[in-house]
Amino acid sequence: MKLSRASLPVVLAGFLSAGFLLHASAAEPAKPKSGQASKDKTANGKMPGLATPDYIPEAARPILRKKMERHGQDARDLMFSVTLLQYDMAKAAAQRIASEPRLVRPIVGGEDDLNALLPERFFVLQDEARTRAQTLSIAAEKKDDKALAESYGRLVETCVACHSAYLNRQ
Ligand code: HEC
Repeated sequence: MKLSRASLPVVLAGFLSAGFLLHASAAEPAKPKSGQASKDKTANGKMPGLATPDYIPEAARPILRKKMERHGQDARDLMFSVTLLQYDMAKAAAQRIASEPRLVRPIVGGEDDLNALLPERFFVLQDEARTRAQTLSIAAEKKDDKALAESYGRLVETCVACHSAYLNRQ
């Protein structure tokens, strides 16, 4: 843990400048209208959040947010470490994702819990993300670049699938 914390500022700085470059080149063809930059959350390097669906009550949002707030940092670490073949960092990020505390399936009598509002697929994908993060961690450990790329792709599929299941409640 010490190692990844020590290298954090470097990763962040790298991300911010890369994000800026990407943004700058994406914005190049069309001249940005005035005021557009302030509306664009990525313009200053901030992560766009995930929208909150209507079925999640106001009171439950901070709980979910707290559980998910590490995703952003892990996502950045993972993308850059996999892309730049930084095996130790990729392994550490994948292990953090794999060992993240999980929401448990609703229990009998807990029909009013937040967990009961979430679709069944959410829990399936939660397990799948864990397995796929473990696969990625093994690929990083073996310094198997091909397996690293494939397992990263498969993990990200699960990330997107779960966000979709969550937003659409299905
Ligand atoms: C089990 C379902 C599930 C999986 C799997 C999942 N997420 Fe999420 N993620 C969520 C939910 C729910 C939220 C919204 C939390 C909230 O309201 O802030 C979220 C939010 C996020 C956010 C926004 C955080 C913020 O600060 O607003 C990021 C970034 C993110 N996820 C990245 C990922 C990445 C990368 C993966 C795959 C490695 C992943 N997620 C896998 C359910 C999931």
